[in-house]
Amino acid sequence: MPAFVVVGRKVCTDGNFSLNDLTGSTGRLDVLLRCVNSAFMLSNDIRRDIDLYLVLMGEPDPPRTLRLCGSELKYLNPDERSTGALVKNALMKKPDEGWTMSTPGIYVAKMGLPGVLAELQGRRLVYLKEEGAPISDVVLSQNDIFVLGGKEDLSPEDEKTVSAWPVTLKISLGPKSLHADHCITVALNALDRL
Ligand SMILES: C[S@@+](CC[C@H](N)C(=O)[O-])C[C@H]1O[C@@H](n2cnc3c(N)ncnc32)[C@H](O)[C@@H]1O
Repeated sequence: MPAFVVVGRKVCTDGNFSLNDLTGSTGRLDVLLRCVNSAFMLSNDIRRDIDLYLVLMGEPDPPRTLRLCGSELKYLNPDERSTGALVKNALMKKPDEGWTMSTPGIYVAKMGLPGVLAELQGRRLVYLKEEGAPISDVVLSQNDIFVLGGKEDLSPEDEKTVSAWPVTLKISLGPKSLHADHCITVALNALDRL
């Protein structure tokens, strides 16, 4: 089962935001909400065989990670606002280093990228990056972990974490710099066609 890990370098780490302002004071949470849509939403169905990790590194209390498990998800709708409400609920929880369930299929923990990757040991990491090797040169696996930036690229520290992973491929999805949610759509399409 593939896992996607999206790092939101400036995305807020508490639930004190307005659902009317998902693009401003949240540090561009809207970008990650669109990633949720791309990861799970099919026409009239939900992808059950995927996990998505949203790593939030903004103020006031980084890090926080939300884990969305397709096999367990409930109450997910295609619009950003209702997904924003699910995320807001999760960020209202006082998390510790282990996972706390917020709503079915949505968990929150006080961990950053190193903690997330520690949970996914033994799997190949595919770092999505504009200047990577062409995706047509590699054979993807349903067990790959895909790591990408949200609104911004990964921080130098997170790049170090990714580089230190035992098996890392740096893969480009094409010559243009894409939105993170579109990267997920393209990568999932490549997996669907295996
Ligand atoms: C919106 S882009 C970041 C754009 C830009 N580099 C910046 O910092 O403003 C978010 C992420 O999507 C991934 N990405 C974007 N275009 C890509 C491509 N053509 N191939 C692979 N990954 C890509 C990268 O992980 C990138 O960090």
